[in-house]
Amino acid sequence: MKKFLTQISEEVQAAFEKAGYDAALGRVSVSNRPDLCEYQCNGAMAGAKKYGKKPIDIANEVAEQLKDSKAFASVEAVMPGFLNLKLNAAYLADYVSDMFAADKYGVEAPAKKEKIVIDYGGPNVAKPLHVGHLRPAIIGESVKRILRYAGHEVIGDVHLGDWGTQMGLIITELQERKPELPYFDESYTGEYPAESPFTLTELEEIYPAASAKSKVKDENGELTEAAKEFHARALKATREMQQGRRGYRQIWKHIMEVSLPDLKENYKKMDIEFDLWMGESDVNDMIPEMVEDMKAKGLAYISNGALVVDVKEETDKKEIPPCMVLKSDGAANYDTTDLATLSWRERELKPDKVLYVVDKRQELHFEQVFRCARKCGLVREETGLEFIGFGTMNGPGGKPFKTRDGGVLRLQALIAEIEENMYAKIRETESPDAKMSEEEARQTAKITALAALKYGDLSNQASKDYVFDVERFTASEGNTGPYLLYTMARIKSILRKNKESGGTEASRLLTPEDNAQKDLLRSVTAFPQMIEDASAERAPHKVCAYLYQLANDFNSFYHGTKILTEPDAEKKAGYIALLHGVLGVMEECIGMLGFEAPERM
Ligand code: ARG
Repeated sequence: MKKFLTQISEEVQAAFEKAGYDAALGRVSVSNRPDLCEYQCNGAMAGAKKYGKKPIDIANEVAEQLKDSKAFASVEAVMPGFLNLKLNAAYLADYVSDMFAADKYGVEAPAKKEKIVIDYGGPNVAKPLHVGHLRPAIIGESVKRILRYAGHEVIGDVHLGDWGTQMGLIITELQERKPELPYFDESYTGEYPAESPFTLTELEEIYPAASAKSKVKDENGELTEAAKEFHARALKATREMQQGRRGYRQIWKHIMEVSLPDLKENYKKMDIEFDLWMGESDVNDMIPEMVEDMKAKGLAYISNGALVVDVKEETDKKEIPPCMVLKSDGAANYDTTDLATLSWRERELKPDKVLYVVDKRQELHFEQVFRCARKCGLVREETGLEFIGFGTMNGPGGKPFKTRDGGVLRLQALIAEIEENMYAKIRETESPDAKMSEEEARQTAKITALAALKYGDLSNQASKDYVFDVERFTASEGNTGPYLLYTMARIKSILRKNKESGGTEASRLLTPEDNAQKDLLRSVTAFPQMIEDASAERAPHKVCAYLYQLANDFNSFYHGTKILTEPDAEKKAGYIALLHGVLGVMEECIGMLGFEAPERM
């Protein structure tokens, strides 16, 4: 299906041509004076110089050509030379009827279907998921779904942090606590116990304890000797684990066995699905070959003991330090695993693009990795590498989000809190003659809490910092998830009642009779263009803005129109068709944002 703006532009372009002007001048845009008109064309202004004429004269000639246009009810040339356009209501209804009947509401396959790998989530195993993990998961999931909807092939990879110093810290702490375990005895050749020496709860306590131990400072603010010594042992353990020390690999396995099911469970609860559950550790065996190749090409060299590749470029405005391929002790670091992972993706998946949804404070790291990967030929020249950096989630005071006692808030606790909040609201506002069962109320609270959380995040431009405010996110009025779900529940309820009372649904929309209906239809027409923009710009907030506008337009229409009580059956059937279609578009949008709508609220 042609996009609506394209289709009406073609009418105006043809008119320019018939009047003897360049057709390209006839591009139409949404009016920036909605009080005067719905759409406008400024082509006469642009053409004035070229044709040596007054813009208003050109505009008048074009308007004359559009007198009988079926697209426009009125075409006005106004000073100094704008064309003010108002749509023919029947034409608009016809277009939207076609959209409602079309696959994906008229969204066409992209000019070039791309294979895109999206790296998002990025939790570090052994550390419980906390609020800091919300943004990469929520934004990444949405970008993935938008790209898929737009017609691309998208592969989501969680890219676990499972090969870094946190592993060495855990090993070292475990050795202090239980030195008698066989994992630490290098001469041990027997089988290791199948069962993990720690539970998830213990593991979640071990890591923070170890991390704290490595950071103890004295009264002068310097790391204590004990902390330094502990940290050094952790680094050594990390390197030995990476290089294959048997007992440490076994502990690593236990850590993974214990923490992965919990991670998976947590993401599942948030409706976040990864196609690949790969991690830093998966590329370990590729590192030696990659490093050898970099050396052979003369690109990697030793600097202060570490193996590095220069990545600065002449045009740089700020200093871009070398990419560190191996640490001075020979261990892999964050750069190493990202480089090897890119190499793996290139070889196994041959993607057109690789996207990274990561905290924007890591921008420099990715700049280094991308440059190094290109320089060393780890990716083809045409492989696109994109960093999608997101801002910090702040608490209501504008400071990074913390719990009341200053700790990091666990994700599960946070979600539970929002669910409770929504549950209370649902109970407060439900009508006494249609009370929900306990089960339905709990389920509805779950769905709406997730929507509140995700929409609260996604409605902000990802790169900006934002304030996490549960009260605001769960409000039923304003630009919030619950507001959208209330609107959808309202439509669902009307459709249900219509069906129950034997009402029908028209196959085509009726010609809108007022501006509220017209505005609603006009908002619907913008859907395919919005998808194209949101996908090209990796911008879930555009889906949110569209959805909010659509919901507002729907509510204006709803408040001014009797639907179920409309006596004219044909008219009523037309309204029902409109509601059905609008709900469908809204469902597509919330699907791309990663949440669902309950049947009623
Ligand atoms: N685990 C990392 C962290 O917590 C995020 C991983 C992002 N993705 C990547 N390919 N580096 O900071």
